[in-house]
Amino acid sequence: MPVISKRLALLGSTGSIGTQTLAVIEGLNRAGHNLSVVALAAGKNLELLAAQAQRFQPELIAIERAKDVGRLRQLLKTFWNGEIAVGGEGLQAVATHPKADLVVNALVGAVGLIPTLEALKAKKIVALANKESLVIGGHLVHASLDLHLRPGEGVQSRRSLVPIDSEHSALFQLLQPLRQDEIERIILTASGGPFRTRPLDSFAHITVEEALRHPTWQMGKRVTIDSATLVNKAFEVIEAHWLFDLPYEKISVLIHPQSVVHGLVELTDGSLLAHVSTTDMKLPIQYALTYPERIASSVERLDLVKQRLEFAPVGRERYPAFWLVCEAGRRGGTFPAVANAADEVLVQKFLNNEISFLGIARGLERVLAEHEGVPDPDVEEIFAADRWARQRASEIAQNSL
Ligand SMILES: NC(=O)c1ccc[n+]([C@@H]2O[C@H](COP(=O)([O-])OP(=O)(O)OC[C@H]3O[C@@H](n4cnc5c(N)ncnc54)[C@H](OP(=O)(O)O)[C@@H]3O)[C@@H](O)[C@H]2O)c1
Repeated sequence: MPVISKRLALLGSTGSIGTQTLAVIEGLNRAGHNLSVVALAAGKNLELLAAQAQRFQPELIAIERAKDVGRLRQLLKTFWNGEIAVGGEGLQAVATHPKADLVVNALVGAVGLIPTLEALKAKKIVALANKESLVIGGHLVHASLDLHLRPGEGVQSRRSLVPIDSEHSALFQLLQPLRQDEIERIILTASGGPFRTRPLDSFAHITVEEALRHPTWQMGKRVTIDSATLVNKAFEVIEAHWLFDLPYEKISVLIHPQSVVHGLVELTDGSLLAHVSTTDMKLPIQYALTYPERIASSVERLDLVKQRLEFAPVGRERYPAFWLVCEAGRRGGTFPAVANAADEVLVQKFLNNEISFLGIARGLERVLAEHEGVPDPDVEEIFAADRWARQRASEIAQNSL
């Protein structure tokens, strides 16, 4: 077995993916590999970040707010004596740390885009969990990749961006040996969320508690609601478009309630390749950390004998927000950024009991219909569209949802 030796910078170390990444690093090191952490970035969770700094001894840590530096130093006492950076500059310093070979971006939200671009510009390999980098700035990330593919070559020759999201990791693994011209289409799977079989005429009465009960994955609140509307899956379609250089016509989604088939590739000869495993994010995280090697793991094995696998199409009436966001992806420009920002606001309003579950799709439809898109936007234009969408979504939610 090859021994993995890498130096990592981790953005978003205190989050769900960030903490699981550190657990995977410790597991790999216990198994004789050599992964060190040279830089960590987090937001406001100073206690956890201080504990991580003590344990992993990075040279640099970054936090969101300058006013927290004093408190962080207090927490770190004499355990750690490295450098502390703050805000956007801090994120950039972590993303481009000279000693890092691999940058894991596990930030949540639009704040993840610039660090992804900076890390790629600094010729780092990026293990990407931060969806928003590709959803709102896919064309910019794409343009930053080393795109010297020979004719007919596909993703297997592109090593600078490795996905962490489980569906994209699955597809990335399946696509490795393939040429673009062998691929008929890729299929992402979606659990269908908690309302897959609920009668449509009762959707007006969906409560926050019901929407937060995700059948297969344990995640944060926004992404759990986005899984009930399937907006999360539409974001993943946009991610896949940029990650794998595939036109939207070649990307499909199927509802698969058991969530053990994470992705499928249909080949031009009619063969279908599938990636199947238990639902544990540690598996795609480990693959991204060790790529291009595959290393033994203790992830639970799937007992196929116990599986009954079902697949169904994504209904337009049941999942209207999914189709709206896919359309925003197809239109490109600032539309995906607007969809992302409006959705974030609308989901929060739903969680606050200010709008109904159906109001999320209605609000998205209104905001997207009003948007005058900017084609091929730069970072400033993306953030301007994001701000506009937040404001409009808020106003629409307040007045008419
Ligand atoms: N969780 C999953 O299973 C999963 C699966 C697939 C994809 N993803 C994607 O992975 C990304 C991360 O998801 P997550 O579930 O790990 O999110 P999360 O638990 O909310 O963690 C987000 C991390 O980002 C940090 N952060 C947020 N805003 C920041 C800012 N302005 N400056 C610096 N740091 C900031 C947070 O710091 P503090 O907590 O210290 O404030 C935290 O470390 C998302 O794009 C998500 O869609 C997640």
